[in-house]
Amino acid sequence: MLRFDFTNSMAENVKDGISLEDIKGISGKLHSFLESIRQSMPGFAKILESGEKERQEIVEFAKENDHFENFVVVGIGGSALGIQAIKGALLHPAWNSLSKEERDGRPRLFVMDNVDPEHIASILDLVDPAKTLFNVISKSGSTAETMANYLVVRGLLESRGLDPKKHLVFTTDPNEGALRKISIDDDIPTFTIPPNVGGRFSVLTAVGLLSAAMTGIDINEMIDGAKEELEAFLSQDDTLKNPVLFNAALHYLYSKKGKSISVMMPYSNALYTMADWYRQLWAESLGKEKDLTGEIVNTGQTPIKSLGTVDQHSQVQLYMEGPNDKIITFLRVEHFRRNLKISKVHNDEKALSYLGGKEMKRLINSEQEATALALTEKGRPNLTISFDEITPKEIGTFFFYYELTVAAMGFLYGINTFDQPGVELGKLNTYALMEREGYEDRKKHIEELKKNLKYFVI
Ligand code: PA5
Repeated sequence: MLRFDFTNSMAENVKDGISLEDIKGISGKLHSFLESIRQSMPGFAKILESGEKERQEIVEFAKENDHFENFVVVGIGGSALGIQAIKGALLHPAWNSLSKEERDGRPRLFVMDNVDPEHIASILDLVDPAKTLFNVISKSGSTAETMANYLVVRGLLESRGLDPKKHLVFTTDPNEGALRKISIDDDIPTFTIPPNVGGRFSVLTAVGLLSAAMTGIDINEMIDGAKEELEAFLSQDDTLKNPVLFNAALHYLYSKKGKSISVMMPYSNALYTMADWYRQLWAESLGKEKDLTGEIVNTGQTPIKSLGTVDQHSQVQLYMEGPNDKIITFLRVEHFRRNLKISKVHNDEKALSYLGGKEMKRLINSEQEATALALTEKGRPNLTISFDEITPKEIGTFFFYYELTVAAMGFLYGINTFDQPGVELGKLNTYALMEREGYEDRKKHIEELKKNLKYFVI
């Protein structure tokens, strides 16, 4: 369903590019990765089968709760970005401004992630708690931001005399964490994030699927797309014909050649939030200090998101003529869900008349091709992933394709793709600064660290 065009990344077409021979050179490692997945599916792949029962429950839950005017997600990072991506790709861009009828009776969808008081207060300005279902999502059940936002919401519900059981639904670990404990104590309906699925790999669990189902998106289609992707991956031994292995090899080899930045540039507003999701997956999974043997390796590429055509008038100058340290992935849509014909007026004005009468999708796709070719001419590697149409199925495929690709990249780097010690350290420091019980030693350590800093504050 997705089409992969690697032409503009290959040595034949870009100076100092990666050749098929280079990729064949690491095919042993790539095969080992393929074999490792065949032998033992990672958690994010297991859920495609094992999550069946919970998916039915999600669909039923969404039906039973379709009277709510608002569905508000409280979560951050892997517990929010996939939902933003689904919302951006599959719902009307102005979903929350549509009438209930136009939304087919489905709720408006909001995401409370940051603990920016203006952001949270502005969402609370818009939703009447009596007509709102809040979905608190946290795998650990302890992330400070999510817990703070949950407390705000819970306080609000209680101050209005609303029954938390009817206005809250949790998504968390099946056994561990404060959220699970509260769910049992207070009898709050709760969906699970399997322990072997990391936050940023959890979009195809209840984390992403509950919001999707609540807003009328066919979650089974999304899973079908992911399943097809898994099957296609597992059944293709030829590295040069397997888009997961090919793309992972390309990015890995380019990163070794100094391309330290990986840009994702959709030529589609709907796919812009997918690039946000990708940024987290790429950054948190591949940015690692040590490899599996404990050696310091400092791996990873900095993921950047860009929007075509808008960033042609901003970022592309740098991509074209700045440091040649990037590999760019374009996302392109062959059939837009809506189309517009550009009006044929000013026929005698050369600067405008060539546009009149043509379809807008032709313009955006021509601009994508033009930019890709110009970059190639300048020796800047790039590739294009084409969606036939943005559908739940293609979105499911895309999520799963990138989860596999990132896992393959991590395998090539020899790192643990699925942990995030850097993020955890920041979390611990926050607990210490906010005086959480049990973090007194960490607080002393931070105070010591701060004492020894040489300050340059103007
Ligand atoms: O990918 C990850 O593990 C992180 O980005 C988490 O999703 C994020 O820190 C939120 O964690 P939690 O779901 O435990 O609240």
